[in-house]
Amino acid sequence: MEINFPPVKENPHDRISGCRFFVDKAIADLCKERPERIPERLWESMTYSLTAGGKRVRPVLCILAGEAFGASREDLIPMALACEMVHTASLIHDDLPAMDNDSMRRGKPTNHVIFGEPLALLAGDSLFLWAFEYARKGLLAGNAFPHISILEALGVLLDASGPAGICGGQVLDTDPVSAGPELEHPWTVARSKTAVLISASIQAGAILGGAEPREREAFAEFGDHLGTAFQIVDDIIDVTGEAARIGKTPGKDRILGKVTFVSVFGLEKARRMARQETFMALESLSTIKKDVADLERFPRILAERDS
Ligand code: IPE
Ligand code: IPE
Ligand code: MG
Ligand code: MG
Ligand code: MG
Repeated sequence: MEINFPPVKENPHDRISGCRFFVDKAIADLCKERPERIPERLWESMTYSLTAGGKRVRPVLCILAGEAFGASREDLIPMALACEMVHTASLIHDDLPAMDNDSMRRGKPTNHVIFGEPLALLAGDSLFLWAFEYARKGLLAGNAFPHISILEALGVLLDASGPAGICGGQVLDTDPVSAGPELEHPWTVARSKTAVLISASIQAGAILGGAEPREREAFAEFGDHLGTAFQIVDDIIDVTGEAARIGKTPGKDRILGKVTFVSVFGLEKARRMARQETFMALESLSTIKKDVADLERFPRILAERDS
């Protein structure tokens, strides 16, 4: 089935780029000063990967979701940065020789290439864990959200980071014994290693903004479809992308013998599946009766990306 999306509404202020700029600045500010008890080299390694660049998809989604319910960008930033820390941690671990053994990330040598494997492993652990303490402190200090919302938002991110989330997904992706039926496996892996964090980032913002249970559910569904489309496109650009543009080693999935959307379904079908998931993401969002114009633009931008 061919899907034709309605035209993108013009947005003169381009809030998505503005939001990304805001996130980048907050990360740069955060990384300027090392908290006293964190050893210097560990801090260097953590901040190397955090400031290396990246599209900042998860923190921007977290902020846009919260803003749709009236929360302010400043108040949401501790949660948004925690989402980016968890993501960056997962990338450091993903690149390790024991995992995908990659030497380039965000256009730079991977963390372990610069700092060595032990430090990279621990920088990943540190970002995973520090994310929660950083967010807890910042959200409490901001005094903008009920404590129960803070607890729930942190819980959603925590669940997405653990065995039922990224850790579990990465096992399904790397452990041959865990591989499921071929036609289902790419879907299961995409949902658990990637969509789970994208969905959690959106949900965390919405929870802090005060979304009702029904709205939270719709946002979770939006995130699942958006995140699955995101991984399908990641599998596609692994085959079609150029190193200079994607900032990582192209062709890696094939070298590693990964079961991906492209290896199982081929490029054309994978592209169609990405469009279908994008369409379903937009459908989930259509039930929300708030101003979600910026969130609506996001799935298409991500589906059409080449990096
Ligand atoms: C890469 O994520 C890993 C996946 C989950 C597919 P991104 O494509 O968001 O990476 P950055 O943050 O822009 O570097
Ligand atoms: C990684 O998937 C997803 C994570 C949870 C980090 P990939 O291994 O496909 O990500 P890239 O292509 O290296 O960014
Ligand atoms: Mg991987
Ligand atoms: Mg990888
Ligand atoms: Mg990939």
